[in-house]
Amino acid sequence: MGIVTSKEMFEKAYAGGYAIGAFNVNNMEIIQGITEAAKELRSPLILQVSAGARKYASHTYLMKLVEAAVIETELPICLHLDHGDTFELCKSCIDGGFSSVMIDGSKHSFEDNIALTRKVVEYAHDHGVVVEAELGRLAGIEDDVNVSVEDSSYTRPEEVEEFVARTNVDSLAIAIGTSHGAFKFKPDTKPQLRFDILDEIAKRLPNFPIVLHGASSVPKDLVDIINTYGGNMPGAVGVPEDQLRRAAAGAVCKINIDSDLRLAMTATIRKHFAENPADFDPRQYLKPARAAIKALVAHKITNVLGSAHTA
Ligand code: G3H
Ligand code: 13P
Ligand code: ZN
Repeated sequence: MGIVTSKEMFEKAYAGGYAIGAFNVNNMEIIQGITEAAKELRSPLILQVSAGARKYASHTYLMKLVEAAVIETELPICLHLDHGDTFELCKSCIDGGFSSVMIDGSKHSFEDNIALTRKVVEYAHDHGVVVEAELGRLAGIEDDVNVSVEDSSYTRPEEVEEFVARTNVDSLAIAIGTSHGAFKFKPDTKPQLRFDILDEIAKRLPNFPIVLHGASSVPKDLVDIINTYGGNMPGAVGVPEDQLRRAAAGAVCKINIDSDLRLAMTATIRKHFAENPADFDPRQYLKPARAAIKALVAHKITNVLGSAHTA
């Protein structure tokens, strides 16, 4: 099996009441940790690459590492561009072997978002590649985008049918209260996703795969380790896992996770150096970091996504 699109994964996930984890990848150890967990649990996977990751590791290295993961795991793995912001970037990933791209036109007007998305969809579908778009704006910080809470806005359900019909897009990312990064909600408030908006969108788009970005749960034990060993992340709060599970049981077929991987890796490496200050062999700290990523992904697959034993 080679790199596959997410089409069949989403059809099965929608019908089965679970979601596929879309994990951001930047290097070999992250790819190995994620895919080793998925292999043991026989879970399909989406590995996603941001523009920043592509700049950091290069398209070719990431492509070859994911091809290696497909050989090692024999799993259906979809290779996806995360937050593509231009037609040219999407085209470059499509031409370079990705099976899925996101065109994030959420910062544009409704009409401009439709025009850009449709252009990417036409090129992608001609090449057997699927496309995710975004309607509504998440708060938070990505590589080139910094959206404040005041500038973010929930997806308007009354717009989704027209958007999907006019773009022919394959999946849709929506804003219902998640956000990127490790500081998603005020520590003294009760995080609550807008399930009323999700339900209304699902009603208007029957059997259509919905995507949740900014879906890290920011595990407290990892934040505590980081803060214990010299870090400074007080007040980091993520999306409660029971709410993600509820979303996965409904129309949400793809759940994006990046920050939790970063926390797992960083907590492990900080602790390692506190306990082994003389260590200077990268294998000695990357090995436990990779194991921590594997444990985190196994937990997500089993307890949040519900995608174990579906590959
Ligand atoms: O949503 C964005 C992802 O967390 C990727 O982050 O652009 O820093 O690679 P990045
Ligand atoms: P987190 O920052 O919550 O992990 O979200 C990642 C994401 O949405 C990648 O597109
Ligand atoms: Zn995102």
